[in-house]
Amino acid sequence: MKVVLAFSGGLDTSVILHLLQERMGAEVITVTVDVGQKEDFNAIKEKAYALGALKHYYVDAKQEFVEKYVAPAIKANALYEGAYPLSTALARPLIVEKVVEVALKEGTPYIAHGCTGKGNDQVRFDIAVKALYPEAEVIAPVREWGLTRDWELKYASEHGIPVSHGIYSIDENLWGRSIEGGVLEDPYNEPPEEVFEWTTAPELAPDTPEYLSIEFGGGIPVAVNGVKLPLTNIISLLNAVAGKHGVGRIDHMEDRTVGIKSREVYEAPAAITLIKAHKDLEKLVLTKWELMFKELADNTWSWLVYNGLWFEPLREELTELINLMNEGVEGEVKLKLFKGTATVVGRSSPYALYDLKLSSYESISSFDQSLGKGFTQLWGLQSTVAAALRRKVKAEAVAPTCTGRSS
Ligand code: ARG
Repeated sequence: MKVVLAFSGGLDTSVILHLLQERMGAEVITVTVDVGQKEDFNAIKEKAYALGALKHYYVDAKQEFVEKYVAPAIKANALYEGAYPLSTALARPLIVEKVVEVALKEGTPYIAHGCTGKGNDQVRFDIAVKALYPEAEVIAPVREWGLTRDWELKYASEHGIPVSHGIYSIDENLWGRSIEGGVLEDPYNEPPEEVFEWTTAPELAPDTPEYLSIEFGGGIPVAVNGVKLPLTNIISLLNAVAGKHGVGRIDHMEDRTVGIKSREVYEAPAAITLIKAHKDLEKLVLTKWELMFKELADNTWSWLVYNGLWFEPLREELTELINLMNEGVEGEVKLKLFKGTATVVGRSSPYALYDLKLSSYESISSFDQSLGKGFTQLWGLQSTVAAALRRKVKAEAVAPTCTGRSS
């Protein structure tokens, strides 16, 4: 049997590559999808062949990742539980798409992945495989054969499988870096400096702030400091610049799909900076009713993506709505990066609903203040009626005992 394995070159998938041959007599075809993780893809290919892969595929999906997954996430201000920019979650359906393409090309229904039975990634992988290739059969050795990290390490050393990892479990792509395990498993432990790679410790960041201007078109960043750039480049640039200022460290108690609470640490300088800027610009151009509803749409969108429901129709429908609402999200946001924070300090847009003539307290104001009197009467009508009624009912509830006795 031929098995197509989603291969990162890490401990789990290296052990699996070996095990699939040993236990199932499988011929294994490995696929590594490049979503912007800083890896030596040549070394991964060589590792795959050294461990017995029949064939290895490298797929550069960076551009597609940014256009089809990251851009909609920016428009949706996507933060799971208000904190996690979904970097790992967004890449999963795309990785599966590429692995499925290889499986179809190689004419096999067997697709293997290295996800555990405790995490979210198994949910995302399994559902995406079924959505894209219903006849496929998923093999998840870590989950199905109950592999543990210590067992894998022992197996690796017995079978000459090189392991070049630290104590942490790390997942990386252009949109962020996820770090789990080791001392982080105790949520009271402050993340040690060694877990961070993309960000400077805020206290060691430059002593002078750096200003950035980010230009948006249709809700998507299109230029930085006046220079038009493809979104992929903007993200790389901001990961470097905001990371240098210590922006984008996230330490989060997270609720997994399977119910487990986990302590998650992330680095996502570009994601945090861009979402902040985008959200601020939306506040300038959308109406208060649009903003009120969009919050719900954004949170639901993020929730679906986190929980492996990328192919759920509601996710697609919300994407349409969010795109529509972003058509006029155009303009410029000025940010100040300083010692771990990205603060919006200015914004402008041709579609700004802000009108100085309306909001100013100076004499240029064209707003007719006398309208305020009637407005507040109508706006508070039900509240004032209800308040008066309650006062009356309360008074009557006290009154009978007094009047009752006197008669
Ligand atoms: N908790 C995040 C998620 O479910 C990140 C998981 C990252 N995986 C890892 N091996 N560190 O999307």
